[in-house]
Amino acid sequence: MKDIRGAGIVGTFFHAPTRERLDVLEDVLILVDERGAISAVLPPDDPARPDIERQCGENLLRLPPGQFGLPGLVDLHVHAPQYPQLGLALDEPLEVWLQKYTFPLEARYADLDFARERYATLVEDLLATGTTTALYFATRHEAATKLLADICIEKGQRALVGKVVMDDPAACPDYYRDESAETAIAETRAVIDHIRSHPDNGAGRVLPVVTPRFIPSCTDAVLQGLGALAAECGCHVQTHVSESDWAHAHVLARYGITDAAALDSFGLLTRKSVLAHANFLTDADMDRLASAGSAVAHCALSNIYFANSVFPLRHALEKGVHVGLGTDISGGPSASMFEACRATVQSSRMLAEGVDPTLPPESRGRPGSAVDLVTAFHLATAGGGVALDLPIGILAPGYRFDAIAIDTNAREGAIRLFGETAPGAIFEKIVYGATRANIAAVWVDGRIT
Ligand code: GUN
Ligand code: FE
Repeated sequence: MKDIRGAGIVGTFFHAPTRERLDVLEDVLILVDERGAISAVLPPDDPARPDIERQCGENLLRLPPGQFGLPGLVDLHVHAPQYPQLGLALDEPLEVWLQKYTFPLEARYADLDFARERYATLVEDLLATGTTTALYFATRHEAATKLLADICIEKGQRALVGKVVMDDPAACPDYYRDESAETAIAETRAVIDHIRSHPDNGAGRVLPVVTPRFIPSCTDAVLQGLGALAAECGCHVQTHVSESDWAHAHVLARYGITDAAALDSFGLLTRKSVLAHANFLTDADMDRLASAGSAVAHCALSNIYFANSVFPLRHALEKGVHVGLGTDISGGPSASMFEACRATVQSSRMLAEGVDPTLPPESRGRPGSAVDLVTAFHLATAGGGVALDLPIGILAPGYRFDAIAIDTNAREGAIRLFGETAPGAIFEKIVYGATRANIAAVWVDGRIT
């Protein structure tokens, strides 16, 4: 496969511009400009097509039989330094897991050689798994955070990267803590400047993110300072909100208001804020997020291990909250956004039906909570784009050509078609079955990665 810049690609593509609707773009020609934006999507009967295809000449790529195109997947919550612990250390509650396993691992990224090897492997693996955009928590280290951004720029992934801030001596160990609120803010600013002025990042494919880890690890002074910095620099914000019983209760006890209300009071709920988990949001919190335009990164797989409950996704969507999906590497044991789609559908079903067989069916679950596969896929693509306020996740003019090609015939893959031709059936088999071996090509801004 090759770059599709200043060129075109012909094939059948699926995308989900709204959560109700799967669009099948059958045998379309997608034209991509020199900078990687989609300029046109032409159906087979468009009268201009023969001429345009002739003009494209060698620059026209055709997806081979059995291959289908999708928008690239948008992972809204990745802890990059936790990749070595993927699939490990899932036996403790959040507050113990952080101190026992996660902080000791993240502290090792003070060593740039240690960081380089792991970050390079992560970014290569995520691209190969179809994740064209990732929103990354790095570690508290300025140098290693810059290195992660450099690696994303070099490897061509669209990425948003934040230096983790955690400065509260009462909550963070001596060996892994920001020295002070002032140094944490200064280092965050240095990372923002580094990413914005990087000579190979002129297109802004990698963006900086203000990243207080979560309220329980931060002092009031640093939360205030980071809110002001986000306003000043206009960059994205990411943190965790009301993830578990413990985290939710911690903030209530500290301030007498909810986690979301407290983040808002520090100026951390903006149009470009992404809040991970959000399981225990109240209705008033959801209204607050909806009016700020802040988004939830729904991490269905991780929530099974750490969140004590299932996020009421459907309710949040009906209240108008922006939502995308996240793997939460390594809170969730899979790096695949297809896995995140599956877990989203499955956990919503468990919330709807309930899980305790000793209860009668009518009081076992929370009816009306289930979402379908199209909704999950929409959230993993277009929903992520809306959450980040970026033109990605939809294959239409004005959007970036961030896309993947799925080979449904790959022997090493897990998709098996037995003559199915209905596009809806092919789509379901792709999202439920696709593994890395099925991903034949990955483009970001029209460039093959
Ligand atoms: N809350 C604060 N830090 C973390 C983290 O690294 N992972 C998860 N899942 N929750 C957190
Ligand atoms: Fe997380």
